[in-house]
Parts: sequence; C-alpha cells; structure tokens
Amino acid sequence: MKVKKAIVPAAGLGTRFLPATKSVPKELLPIVDTPTIQYIVEEVHQAGIETVVLVTGKGKTGIVDHFDLNSELQAKLESEGKYDLARLLNEASGLVKIVSTRQQSPRGLGHAVLCAKDIVGDEPFAVLLGDDLVDAEVPCTKQMIDVYNKYGKSVVALMKVSDEDISKFGCAAGAELEPGVLDLNKMVEKPALEEAPSRYAIVGRYILTPKIFEILERQTPGKGGEIQLTDAMARLMKEEGFVGYLFKGDRYDAGDKFGFIQANIAYALKMPEIKDRLLEYMKSLVTSKL
Ligand code: UTP
Repeated sequence: MKVKKAIVPAAGLGTRFLPATKSVPKELLPIVDTPTIQYIVEEVHQAGIETVVLVTGKGKTGIVDHFDLNSELQAKLESEGKYDLARLLNEASGLVKIVSTRQQSPRGLGHAVLCAKDIVGDEPFAVLLGDDLVDAEVPCTKQMIDVYNKYGKSVVALMKVSDEDISKFGCAAGAELEPGVLDLNKMVEKPALEEAPSRYAIVGRYILTPKIFEILERQTPGKGGEIQLTDAMARLMKEEGFVGYLFKGDRYDAGDKFGFIQANIAYALKMPEIKDRLLEYMKSLVTSKL
C-alpha cells in the first residue's frame, strides 16, 4: 500500500534548547533563514507524500501557523517590488495538506505518534522527527519509501555512531540483506554501552505499518517514564519483521545546540551569497583561535 501520510511529532519540550524554547518551539528555530520544520515538510513533499500530520502541544501552534498563506504580506511585498521575498514568504504553504493534532502532555515519542492514529487510519505512514534534519541528494524519506516498497516491512533509518554516542540513541542490529539494509532482530532504546547490540543508531525517520498503533495503545512507559517508540517498534519487529536502512545523507540534530550550529554552517555553505564570506570568516577564526 502506498505511503501517503507523514506524522511529524513536534510536541516535545525542547529542554536542551532553553531558554530559547521557553516561548518559541524549537522546530521554528531557523537554520539560517528557514525554520527546521519547513525543511521537514519540504522533504515530505519531495518524497511524494500528500498529507502531513503535525503533532503539536502547549505553546506550539506557531508551527502550524507557519504553513498558512499570508496573502496580505505577499501583496505588500509585491507592491514594493520585493518579488523574491514575496516568493519565499509562502513557499512552504500548499506544498502538502497540513493537518494538526495535539498531544495533551509530552508523554513520549511513541505517545505522540499514537495521537495521530485516527487521522492516519489503516495504512502505512512515514514519521519524521520535527528537529532532525537530513540533507541528502535523494530525500531521506524517499530513500526509505523505496526500501519499504521493496521489502514490504517497516523501515527505520540508521546511522553508525561511536561507542561514546550509542547510549544517546535507540540502537538496532540485524543481518545484512544487501549493502546498507539490515533484517533487524534487536532494538533497544538508549542502551548502556555494554548492552548495545551494535553501533547503529536509530535516527528520526521511519516508515511504519499501522499495526504499530495497536502496539502503542498497549505500550507501558519505558526509559525516562516515556512511552517509547523504540519499545513499540521492537514488538512490531517480532510480529511483522523490520528493516534497518543506512540512509545516504548528512543528518543534523537541530534540537541540540551543537547539531544546530553544525546545521547552520552546513546550510549556509550551500548559499552562494554567504558561502565565500563564511569560509573566510571560519579561516580567520581557525587562524586566530589555534
Ligand atoms: P526529543 O527528545 O528530541 O525532544 O524528541 P524533546 O523532548 O522536545 O527534547 P529535549 O530533550 O527536552 O530537548 C524527538 C522528537 O519527538 C517529539 C519532539 O518534539 C521531537 O521532535 N516529541 C517528543 C513529541 O512530540 N512528544 C513527546 O512527548 C516527546
């Protein structure tokens, strides 16, 4: 069955980014000039998905507002001859159908996904975390849909990380089906280093079958007292099988300070009007600081 909908959980508290996130959702913090959430919705569109379900929470309605058309401002900018700005203003509106739902309190990523159950219904769907950016030639979600279409099983994006980092992520392991694709047999949320079954970290892109909703409804809180998506995926893996996919691209955790700065530099270096000046600046920094 075709993947037509994507859930974007964006109801987390963003505590790693306080005080900025006290009143501004972290998903609206810009990477140079564009909010993270816009990149996510663009990726969904480029993957051929028609509907995005934004899961928001308290103080986060600005995320949904960002995708409204602002015709008045567009007309004003056009009347002033600022056509480039007018085009940018509404670029993300109308790319895909935006639907939103609320997570009453942040009870975990698994719970956030469950909040979209009635909107998604009985069909496979994508999940993209609202603060995880993947810069790739072929959009990461498109790569994953191709894997889903080939194997007919749920797919999770994986990336190799160091010993030092594996305990910060969900971790998955399995037998290689083809280069970059694993038939998973283990999934565990934030394992201690000694218990990590591999160095493959789960990152914020998933294609899931609707069976996950049934499992999530029965899921008890796990690590951190939260309803963990990884725990539910581990059960889905046992029932239906699950594929791990080493995606091609660069991933940035924009909800983390260092990841956010990395993303800003990487995306700025892709902008011709900034690239040369930024490189000069970085060169001068390296010279003066080292
Ligand atoms: P994170 O753990 O990165 O988000 O969750 P967080 O809880 O907002 O971050 P910190 O640790 O406090 O800084 C990954 C994604 O899942 C969403 C978040 O919004 C983020 O996009 N999420 C998390 C929810 O929607 N609901 C939750 O209950 C938890």
